[in-house]
Amino acid sequence: MKATSPFLEITDLSITFCTPGQDIPAVSKCSFTVKKGTCMAIIGESGCGKSVIAHAILRILPKNSLVCGTIRFRGCDLYQLEISDMEKIRGSDIGIMFQSPDRALNPIYKIYRQVKEPVTVHQTVSWEKQHNHILSMLKKSGFFDPEKAASLYPCQCSGGMNQRAVTAIVLSLKPELVIADEPTKGLDTARISDVQDSLMEVIHEDRTLLLITHDIRLARTIATDIVVMYAGEIVESGLADDVLSDPLHPYTKGLIQSLPENGFIPIPGYAPPLTDLPKGCRFAQRCPYASDICHIKPAQPGILKGRVIRCHQY
Ligand SMILES: Nc1ncnc2c1ncn2[C@@H]1O[C@H](COP(=O)(O)OP(=O)(O)O)[C@@H](O)[C@H]1O
Ligand SMILES: [Mg+2]
Repeated sequence: MKATSPFLEITDLSITFCTPGQDIPAVSKCSFTVKKGTCMAIIGESGCGKSVIAHAILRILPKNSLVCGTIRFRGCDLYQLEISDMEKIRGSDIGIMFQSPDRALNPIYKIYRQVKEPVTVHQTVSWEKQHNHILSMLKKSGFFDPEKAASLYPCQCSGGMNQRAVTAIVLSLKPELVIADEPTKGLDTARISDVQDSLMEVIHEDRTLLLITHDIRLARTIATDIVVMYAGEIVESGLADDVLSDPLHPYTKGLIQSLPENGFIPIPGYAPPLTDLPKGCRFAQRCPYASDICHIKPAQPGILKGRVIRCHQY
């Protein structure tokens, strides 16, 4: 039986990047909760604000960002913490697999040193224990020869090998919350299945997963709940099975129809630029069901069939 209290609670989160000449509203008033021992997937096309939310949770956004709203982790408002306390949480309580493993790794250090770093920062254990732990994490992450892998620099590894190394780094401290940002992007089928197994293990160990992905099939396999984002807003959220089998928002319907097994029907047009958002619903220009009101008035979130949905139709 899973606990039902919110483990991660995001309320009215807005993130704006202040750049010379214009502000970029990357995320607008997003709210969702993630229960302990479950997986929440955030899906949506490129640029809709998924990674920015992940970075906001860890407080690693650049200095030109303005964050409003609250992010509570185990009941604690992360933005009220001293930076030194936040540093203790990063890596040990909340781990993140960054979107691009090649860029997440330091090019001048061997894999061994990079897997070792979080262990030395957060734990005091003997050299031998640490060494064995590093090799066992590399093995568990899919390296058949962990000693050899440990001796390589990231530039000597393939994309898949670097993804394995990142998985070993992030999972080595068994963080209570794992954020996986596009963990299967650009990987071959066999590697996708390895990553999927590592992520499933997180949930089976009653830890919690925030999965950010383009891959709706991966979300369908792993996620308990789902958040669908479009142009910085949540347009639909609810139980993954419900949202994916019976999508209500026209954008979610479009995403499902664009899957190969559903006919590969693309959503026409492009998302609006964040610096020039339409005054009505952000999806209206691409929506086959849009009426006059959709072009005039922003849609507000409402509840339907136990889901949050932001659409004038309902
Ligand atoms: N450092 C930054 N400075 C200015 N704008 C940014 C910055 N990082 C992200 N953005 C803006 O935030 C939007 C959302 O980015 P991101 O969360 O990375 O998208 P995705 O959903 O693909 O992960 C981008 O379209 C970009 O306009
Ligand atoms: Mg991203």
